[in-house]
Amino acid sequence: MLTRILGIESSCDETAAAIVADGREILSSVVASQVEIHRKYGGVVPELASREHLRDIVPVVREALAEAKLTFADIDAIGVTRGPGLVGSLLVGLTYGKVLAMSLGKPLVPVNHLEGHVHAVLLQAHLDNREPEMPAVCLIVSGGHTVLYNVKAELLPAGAARRAGGATVFHFTYSRIGQTRDDAAGEAYDKVGKILALGYPGGPVMDQLAAHGNPNAVRFTAPVTKGNPLDFSFSGIKTAVLRHVRARPEMQPEIAQREEALARGERTAAQLLPLCSAATLDLIASFQRSVVEDLAARTLAAAEQHGARSVLVSGGVAANSELRKHFGSQALLAGLDVFFPSRALSTDNAAMIAAAAYPHLLAGELADSQLNAEANFPLA
Ligand code: KG4
Ligand code: ZN
Repeated sequence: MLTRILGIESSCDETAAAIVADGREILSSVVASQVEIHRKYGGVVPELASREHLRDIVPVVREALAEAKLTFADIDAIGVTRGPGLVGSLLVGLTYGKVLAMSLGKPLVPVNHLEGHVHAVLLQAHLDNREPEMPAVCLIVSGGHTVLYNVKAELLPAGAARRAGGATVFHFTYSRIGQTRDDAAGEAYDKVGKILALGYPGGPVMDQLAAHGNPNAVRFTAPVTKGNPLDFSFSGIKTAVLRHVRARPEMQPEIAQREEALARGERTAAQLLPLCSAATLDLIASFQRSVVEDLAARTLAAAEQHGARSVLVSGGVAANSELRKHFGSQALLAGLDVFFPSRALSTDNAAMIAAAAYPHLLAGELADSQLNAEANFPLA
């Protein structure tokens, strides 16, 4: 008998619901993105985010059930994001999940959003018929997070495995070995995108535009993070880009042109490319090269230091094409396997929450009536 978990995610600006069987088979996954609403503010506005979650949560859950051709009666448990995230946003999914679990008489499993991102990689590995060898290091790199974990797998106790129909189910343990001291990498992309008038969020468009520039044109120095060399820092490179632009008044007219284009709703890479000079494309490519090399260098150093056998990379920035290429080649040199989620599983979704809930459900780690949202909820 399969265990079907309904996952609910509402930690930031995506309202998502998904149904995952036995922690690995995605039966449905629905994401309602609020990006259009927050775009004109150049970032997520918390009050607007909660309001949209309230509007979307019921239809998104219904759609997830319909897509899986299931009803509430077919669901065995509910997994819901407890944190970290925006407290008003988290509360919408959490309260809905609580009420649903209570009224259906089903168990409720609180999930750490960051553990969800780890499981996004494991879901994809299963889809690809691959199995990452443990221990692993996992880099979670998004608009809100840039953090490195050492991930270990432990077999669940025999009783829990029996409940899983005899299949081998792992429980994962995490220790945080590095994190950003200031901006997240995705935040740096978005801030540079703002400086250069490339729209919001900056990452996806800059990823495409970077392919047209020379990544060695502008030199950025890699930040030194004293104390822990596995920590990151991205506010310096953002400031360096700002200084670079301020020192070149000839860049202003094209920035103004792109701002006008964005105001007309022209925001694709194809529409912005003709409005970018070679100097701008070089700057974007150099910024990206520097960020990607820094992420890979520290992650691979972490893998070596902690004896990892695989490297997992997850979160919105893991969708970046140069990052995927560079991590792939660097990991190969180090004799490590590297795993990414698909682009859809890289960004926030609820399939990863349902998958992360599964081992906790088997281990009986359920929510009590006191369960509350936690804006700062460290995984380790
Ligand atoms: O995981 P996510 O959807 O939301 C959170 O921040 O939790 O990540 C969104 C972030 C944004 O900062 C966006 O600019 C960045 O991921 N991003 C990218 C790419 N796609 C999304 N950054 C670089 N290259 C991309 N292809
Ligand atoms: Zn996330």
